[in-house]
Amino acid sequence: MMAWKIVRPLVLVSLMALAGCAPTPTPNPTPAPLPATAVPTETGMAMEPTVRYTLVTGGGTGELNYVGRGGSIDGQANPTLTAQPGDVVEITIVNGDYILHDLTIDEFNAKTPQIQNLDDSATITFQVDREGEFFYYCSVPGHRQAGMEGVLRVGSPAPTAAEGASIVHNPADLPGPIGRRAAQVIDVDLTAQEVVGQLADGATYPYFTFNGTVPGPFVRVRVGDTVNLTLHNATGSTLGHSIDLHAVNGPGGGAVYTQTLPGETHVFSFRALNPGLFVYHCATPSVPHHIASGMYGLILVEPEAGLPPVDKEFYVMQGEIYTVEPFGSQGALIFSMEKMMAEAPEYFVFNGAAGALATDENELHVNVGDTVRIFFGVGGPNATSSFHVIGEIFDRAYPFAALTSPPLTDVQTVTVPPGGAAMVEFHVDVPGRYLLVDHALSRLERGLVGYLVAEGAEDPTIFSGELTEGSGH
Ligand code: CU
Ligand code: CU
Repeated sequence: MMAWKIVRPLVLVSLMALAGCAPTPTPNPTPAPLPATAVPTETGMAMEPTVRYTLVTGGGTGELNYVGRGGSIDGQANPTLTAQPGDVVEITIVNGDYILHDLTIDEFNAKTPQIQNLDDSATITFQVDREGEFFYYCSVPGHRQAGMEGVLRVGSPAPTAAEGASIVHNPADLPGPIGRRAAQVIDVDLTAQEVVGQLADGATYPYFTFNGTVPGPFVRVRVGDTVNLTLHNATGSTLGHSIDLHAVNGPGGGAVYTQTLPGETHVFSFRALNPGLFVYHCATPSVPHHIASGMYGLILVEPEAGLPPVDKEFYVMQGEIYTVEPFGSQGALIFSMEKMMAEAPEYFVFNGAAGALATDENELHVNVGDTVRIFFGVGGPNATSSFHVIGEIFDRAYPFAALTSPPLTDVQTVTVPPGGAAMVEFHVDVPGRYLLVDHALSRLERGLVGYLVAEGAEDPTIFSGELTEGSGH
């Protein structure tokens, strides 16, 4: 077990307010030289810092964060600072703007004075004698929430597994066909909910959802229907949310009418003029952050005559998740704006979580002889999917979900852009387990895989062979 004894904080602060500093902010402020700082030990001897870091507050970029200066953290936003137990850590903050800031680490009772002017700086020095991950943050009200937060990692703390709610939308959970009926008025109720959900074994992620699942509910209407859409934002939410449905003809797809603060509700109406399978998503800035965190779903607008009948229908959506921590990390993972802007996700997911559709609970079940239809969409926000079912051929594919165009036939893989969808249909001829993948297969190694399990009689005239030792199943 780790010893969590309390250390006496050894904090020594220097603050230099530069009187008469430049009247206008400069893009690359240069800090004044810092005096050497030393920490008196308990035996009274001075100790030189073993690790030194400099962070620029505001970063000079107008964003609220800390940007590393010098060394391995140079230019990184909210870099992870590392030290070993017993180290004396020196952290200097330099103000990159004219806003009040400080740097605080609760566990070591370390806190700089607040600095106000461009190029002001302050230094704290303290000793760390326990392993763990500790947040450094700005204690000025609102600044931590706005992004001034990072981690000081001491030693190599054993990660602890984290448990979250299940956010996976079961792919068989969707309303049945509408069939032939006259156009009517349909009420759709959605609630924006922020949920700490299970991303992978031992790892959670702070999801944003519609109705608690990723993707959100499958909305099914008919062309000509008028939809009264009510968007609630749950009282416990920390952010505003909204909805843009690609099925809408009108500015913002509904987003202009539905910017909804926590605890509030907005309603808007639209008439579904175009049949098709459309993505809906949150459209509140930062929009890609809200989408990456799970705020997307599909709305099907059936053509007048409906869709041809099939035996099984499924609802699958692909997305990317950008975490600060590398793929496979344990614990409460957090969102990385930096990786999102670099379009370098750690996780790729079907229906919200790593391997979500490769579990007994959520795999797709069919029988040999079934005709299967998959409504497939990409929430994204950034990656185009090359959707493929290993061991199957799409007898009919409706690329871009153009349901009123004739389908393509005998297709192996469909390309589906972010904010786009496809409808595919196939007949299952032989039993076994088929894999749903994006044929950009590196993504399989990052969690993107689902199972379609077919039960029924073998047909050796279509598929036969002998399993050899080690060939798996
Ligand atoms: Cu949102
Ligand atoms: Cu959109």
